[in-house]
Amino acid sequence: MTQKKVALVTGAAGGIGTEVCRQLVNNGFKVVATHRPGKAEQAQAWLQEQNLADKDIKLLALDVANHEGVSQALGELLKAEGRIDVLVNNAGITRDSVFKKMSLEQWREVMSTNLDSLFSVSQPVFNAMCEQGSGRIINISSVNGLKGQFGQVNYSAAKAGMIGFTKALAAEGARFGVCVNAVAPGYTATPMVTAIREDVLDSIKATIPLKRLATTEEVAGAVLYLAGEHGGYVTGETLSVNGGLYMQ
Ligand code: CAA
Repeated sequence: MTQKKVALVTGAAGGIGTEVCRQLVNNGFKVVATHRPGKAEQAQAWLQEQNLADKDIKLLALDVANHEGVSQALGELLKAEGRIDVLVNNAGITRDSVFKKMSLEQWREVMSTNLDSLFSVSQPVFNAMCEQGSGRIINISSVNGLKGQFGQVNYSAAKAGMIGFTKALAAEGARFGVCVNAVAPGYTATPMVTAIREDVLDSIKATIPLKRLATTEEVAGAVLYLAGEHGGYVTGETLSVNGGLYMQ
């Protein structure tokens, strides 16, 4: 029997993360789904609510912003699993504010969770992928990293940084058979987006050519493509799923 491919998904219990886990596990991957430390009960409840409890999903407590904690947890995970075939760097937060009023804390929180985490999480996994001679890393960026967004100087900077990281690591990974790509979702129907003030969200929707939010299925489908058999010749790319909101 051939061994199942192992996919590690950070921030798995979020709107996009949940659907990414579902599509990967339904397409034959073993999924390691990370949640914040101290949230084991909520993570178990999430598996039940999402009808994922009987699937091949293992939970892992991981604060992606804690470099030492990540090194230790991923070292143990790699020992236990033997390999990681797909890494989806999905964990991300917003701390929206106009720049004039943005605090250093709002800046740092977003940078450490959304961008510094790419260093901490990807390095041990990338090294293992290079040794095994194959792997896919998929970074969940954002349309707002491409076009910039009023009220999101911190988030837009971090999400744009993810795209530079993607291209540079793709250049380094190619000789080892490791493909590195980004998916840049537009406004997607997740709690992060529905938390935007209603009048603000309405005005955003009006500017989207397709006049609606993306579904999490549509975004996860792009991740599955990059993780799967037919994504093997794509690297260093940023795949936009944004309803035409920003056309490069
Ligand atoms: N362009 C230009 N001007 C704008 C603007 C825009 N896009 N949005 C607001 N303004 C103007 C307002 O009209 C207002 O002007 P006046 O003072 O003349 O009335 C001024 O800027 C201040 O705006 P707010 O009243 O909204 O200011 P606030 O301090 O109450 O709120 C904010 C600021 C929290 C940033 C709020 O504007 C907001 O939530 N914006 C949305 C930010 C956003 O898009 N976040 C995305 C979250 S989802 C996500 O990040 C996922 C993803 O990847 C897509």
